[in-house]
Amino acid sequence: MTKTTNQTAPSLLAALPDSPEKLNGVRIKHTRIGQMMNELETLIYPESQDSILLVCGPTGVGKSTLATHIVSNALQKATEEMEQDAGVIPAVYVQAPSSGEDDFSWRLFYQRILQQLEGELSMKKTAYGIDTETGRMVRPRGATGNSLSALRTAVEKALTARQTRFLVIDEAAHIIRQTRQSRLGIQLDTLKSLANECGTQMVLVGAYDLYQLVSLSGQLARRTHVLHFERYRQDSEEDLRAFRACVQKFQNTLPDLWGEQLMPHAEALLENTLGCVGTLSCVLTRAAKLAQKDGRWSVDALRRALLTEAQRHQILEEIMDGEAAINPGLTRTMPRSHIHNNRRPSRSVA
Ligand SMILES: Nc1ncnc2c1ncn2[C@@H]1O[C@H](COP(=O)(O)OP(=O)(O)OP(=O)(O)O)[C@@H](O)[C@H]1O
Ligand SMILES: [Mg+2]
Repeated sequence: MTKTTNQTAPSLLAALPDSPEKLNGVRIKHTRIGQMMNELETLIYPESQDSILLVCGPTGVGKSTLATHIVSNALQKATEEMEQDAGVIPAVYVQAPSSGEDDFSWRLFYQRILQQLEGELSMKKTAYGIDTETGRMVRPRGATGNSLSALRTAVEKALTARQTRFLVIDEAAHIIRQTRQSRLGIQLDTLKSLANECGTQMVLVGAYDLYQLVSLSGQLARRTHVLHFERYRQDSEEDLRAFRACVQKFQNTLPDLWGEQLMPHAEALLENTLGCVGTLSCVLTRAAKLAQKDGRWSVDALRRALLTEAQRHQILEEIMDGEAAINPGLTRTMPRSHIHNNRRPSRSVA
């Protein structure tokens, strides 16, 4: 922390209407998440050739928050369509399972997708694969067993019947971590063909190791577009401003708790949380809880809530490795004619 004075707010929390739990329900709209949403919404469209979209970023940057938000946004936008046709589920969110086994469990993964697609209560009564009496999804003939291929067929049918435009797979790095290198290409072809057969774009969300995917095969690389969900950087004025705006919004959420006393620590918070808004949210929630326990707000509560140097160091190392791997790959060179027209030799997207 840059400011280490032990100043305390005079007010006692017992007398305050603000509760730290208030922070749990808050989702701060910030520049980076807005940019990511826009880019994803632009790249998700029917007939897109990008069958796989890859969203990589550091831990705590807000990837899962983005993932759930993009799905709920899509469902909200499709309200009218869904009212007219109750069988439609335009977007689905699943977490890739971490089975604890050596191999990634595709069985569990497919079951999770089916749960999302079949678990819906109000369903279209006439579509293929929907039981007209019960309104439940009917597994097609030959795919009723629990074999992997049967599950896969059921997923294909369900995605098609539900007209699912995109499937968000959070924690997708589990697929890579738990799949033997020799089989990885085949496994990912499975996802690619699922996307192509059902017209459903796959949005894979995960930590930086997910980026290895693009180096697996040229064919896969061509169909994969990478989006880098970056942290706010200390060395960028623009990022600093955007991060300060986040701290301000968190400050506004619990005005009775910390009054105006968070903003003086914005830069220290950027440094400690490595510019990751999710980590910032965790630190501030902890700080609020500690203050509540103490019975009053204090800078000391904030200090105790920070990441330790060891934690910060570990995360920073992962970030540095991840950024080094992803940044050269994301430098896309413009063709010569464009260089001439735009007077910009290259565009570093990262
Ligand atoms: N924009 C936001 N506003 C408020 N809270 C947020 C925001 N983004 C993230 N958070 C909170 O921060 C925490 C971490 O965020 P999230 O789980 O999205 O990060 P992540 O990038 O998925 O991390 P990991 O790689 O560890 O899975 C969550 O509790 C989440 O609710
Ligand atoms: Mg996550």
